[in-house]
Amino acid sequence: MSDLTGKRVLITGAGRGIGAATAARLAAEGARVALLDREDRVRQVAADLDSGHLGVVADVTDSAALDKAVAEVLAEFGGLDVVVANAGIASWQTADRTDIDAFARTVDINLTGVFRTVRAALPAILESRGYVLVVASLASLIPLPGGSAYGASKAGVEAFANALRLELRGRGVAVGSTHMSIIRTDLVGDVADEMPLVERLVNGPASRLLGARTAEECADAFVRGIRRRARRVYVPEAGALLHWLRPVINSAAADLLLATAARGVLDRMFGALGELGTSTAERNAVRSDVVASNAAASNAVAPRAASAAADRNAAASKAKARR
Ligand SMILES: NC(=O)c1ccc[n+]([C@@H]2O[C@H](COP(=O)([O-])OP(=O)(O)OC[C@H]3O[C@@H](n4cnc5c(N)ncnc54)[C@H](O)[C@@H]3O)[C@@H](O)[C@H]2O)c1
Repeated sequence: MSDLTGKRVLITGAGRGIGAATAARLAAEGARVALLDREDRVRQVAADLDSGHLGVVADVTDSAALDKAVAEVLAEFGGLDVVVANAGIASWQTADRTDIDAFARTVDINLTGVFRTVRAALPAILESRGYVLVVASLASLIPLPGGSAYGASKAGVEAFANALRLELRGRGVAVGSTHMSIIRTDLVGDVADEMPLVERLVNGPASRLLGARTAEECADAFVRGIRRRARRVYVPEAGALLHWLRPVINSAAADLLLATAARGVLDRMFGALGELGTSTAERNAVRSDVVASNAAASNAVAPRAASAAADRNAAASKAKARR
């Protein structure tokens, strides 16, 4: 698919961040892009591209709404060549404090939402012998203490892509997964400034190799991946090393090192959770649900967190009121 001119692409989570940046890059390459998001703003994001693109509002946790949205895209475009299942949220908390509903919601959006998207688009993709790109993370490859729900959902996305690729072999459809380090979007927001572990990745010695990239740099990598119908897209490219180092990263010896490092940062990291909730709730209502219910679960074991949760909810309400 080296020439993207006229290719019909559906991308979820395209109201902002990586999805919006990828849609803009694809549109600039001459593709026809359907941008889907749970937020109304996606219509304006689509309208701000050249004409011929489409903004549709649907939630990837709602199968009926998603099917209807895909039907609308097919009616408008007459088919689909590429689907990019990108919509996702982040969720941070240690497992002992993670609310069960918050865990389930993270998986419902990040993993089942990807499945619903691909399922809805697949008949059209099979017809065009097109390309499926599902958005995972480097968190699929490496243990993520303090992010078990997110890591589990993203590992699931990778496993889903790997199975789908084999199922579709011989039917003309290629399947890829994307694995990114930190991309500076609303999903991470100010987190990098507030959480020492993330801050180190963004600004520390590892940053040149695996540190933060912009949404536009990520979009460029996605577009290159779509052109090549790639199996895997890493952002930055050095992330591929982690794939090949998996046996080492998951060894007992590495556990020892990682657990010791994690113990040092988790307290500080979740000391900052109040601030984290504030900064992310402003930008992602779904995520604020997750953070708020995590906070409620935390309060059961950490009563001092209650005032932080109250501050956070007040800040989120203020932010909503400002919008
Ligand atoms: N930013 C990073 O550091 C990073 C790293 C690795 C992977 N990712 C993944 O990349 C993807 C995009 O993340 P981003 O950084 O652009 O985040 P973002 O928060 O900037 O954008 C995510 C978009 O998805 C939409 N969305 C969320 N839930 C939805 C739902 N239920 N239905 C429809 N739309 C929904 C949001 O409204 C938003 O427009 C996510 O899957 C994320 O997990 C991000």
